[in-house]
Amino acid sequence: MTILVTGGAGYIGSHMVLRLIEAGHEVVVIDNLCNASRESLERVSQLSGKEVTFIEGDIRDRSLLDYVLADFEISDVLHFAGLKSVGESVSEPLAYFENNVAGTITLCQAMTAAGVHRLVFSSSATVYGDATRMPLSENAPTGQPTNAYGHSKLMVEEVLRKLARSDPRWSIALLRYFNPVGAHPSGLIGEAPSGTPSNLLPFISQVAIGRLPVLSVFGDDYPTPDGTGVRDYIHVMDLVEGHLAAMRVLSDRAGVNVWNLGTGQGYSVLEMVRAFEHVAQREVPYRIVPRRDGDIAACWADASLAERELGWRAQRGLLDMIADTWRWQSRNPEGYPRLRNSLGRQSGGLTSALPRIYLIDKTHASRMAS
Ligand code: NAD
Ligand code: WQD
Repeated sequence: MTILVTGGAGYIGSHMVLRLIEAGHEVVVIDNLCNASRESLERVSQLSGKEVTFIEGDIRDRSLLDYVLADFEISDVLHFAGLKSVGESVSEPLAYFENNVAGTITLCQAMTAAGVHRLVFSSSATVYGDATRMPLSENAPTGQPTNAYGHSKLMVEEVLRKLARSDPRWSIALLRYFNPVGAHPSGLIGEAPSGTPSNLLPFISQVAIGRLPVLSVFGDDYPTPDGTGVRDYIHVMDLVEGHLAAMRVLSDRAGVNVWNLGTGQGYSVLEMVRAFEHVAQREVPYRIVPRRDGDIAACWADASLAERELGWRAQRGLLDMIADTWRWQSRNPEGYPRLRNSLGRQSGGLTSALPRIYLIDKTHASRMAS
């Protein structure tokens, strides 16, 4: 049996694909490369010593999904594909609902038709909104996201709950990530944002490498110990371990299950800056600017449910997260080559007459006859 990883060429997905291959699973990746480069999968192949089966295509392409689910004998789907820029979602809400919500619905329709009922979904702590009581456990009320990205995650959660209620064969995990950071310790795969990063750690590392001049710290008047925003940063390698643990539990457990994936420890923006300066041994110039619209003061997880039910807890601390981010950034100052820099919706429409399937190895991708 084979695991389908949607969005597997992206930041978190590529780390997941590597870990799945290392764990002995057969993997198929589907990604439309709207925010990724095939280079990430070439490097996964280099690290794993195995070929990666990659299908360049879109999760909204139902006929492609029908073909993949049946022909590759898929047993589980890890669903990372989606658009994730909060700012872009405010200016292009329809693209976010179409891609994230409609895309997931198409995926679930195809899974239903193919008799595949195990799904792990990349949700986000953003669904808790502006909560006041920390830490956040899974039964904290979900909030009112101010942007279409957050709404799309909440909507998908609801779609998946209703789906599982309608049919007991479904086993679904809603994994609510806190703030994923870091990179594989090799420095070969990592986060390669297109354009100017909006997230803190990629921004700091681009300042440290000299691509950006100065970090803007969004507000120092929050009710936090040093006045700057506090978040629960989690190493991407710990995050993917959480998915493996969720898959194991889902194989024996029906319905919808919600698990927070965080460390339970919050750090402020200025703590992140100082820790980065310490690890990289260079100054990170910053200036304090007004708060960013839609930001909350503080957010960190109660991750004890995942520890009890999944037997998982984050192992890597802040210095590992920053050291691995810095190694990736220093070795790849411009990120991956060939990253497409746009929403990148396919120009030829969504339905591909012939699936574009590649066997990717570390030096090249060869197109499979299909
Ligand atoms: P990413 O942009 O690096 O990866 C997403 C991948 O999905 C990209 O490779 C993109 O090309 C692909 N994709 C997008 N739309 C697609 C479509 N319609 N069909 C096929 N492929 C498509 O993002 P990431 O940081 O790896 O995030 C992965 C998932 O985790 C996303 O769903 C995201 O919303 C969620 N998430 C991310 C964070 C974070 O801070 N990185 C936090 C919480 C949740
Ligand atoms: C962290 C802290 C900022 C940049 C976002 C999404 C969320 C999730 C992860 C997917 C905050 C401060 C940041 C900068 C700064 N993604 N900051 N200067 O806002 O917690 O979460 O990404 O689901 O949905 O909203 O992460 O990394 O943007 O910010 O001062 O240039 O750093 O104000 O306190 P955030 P972030």
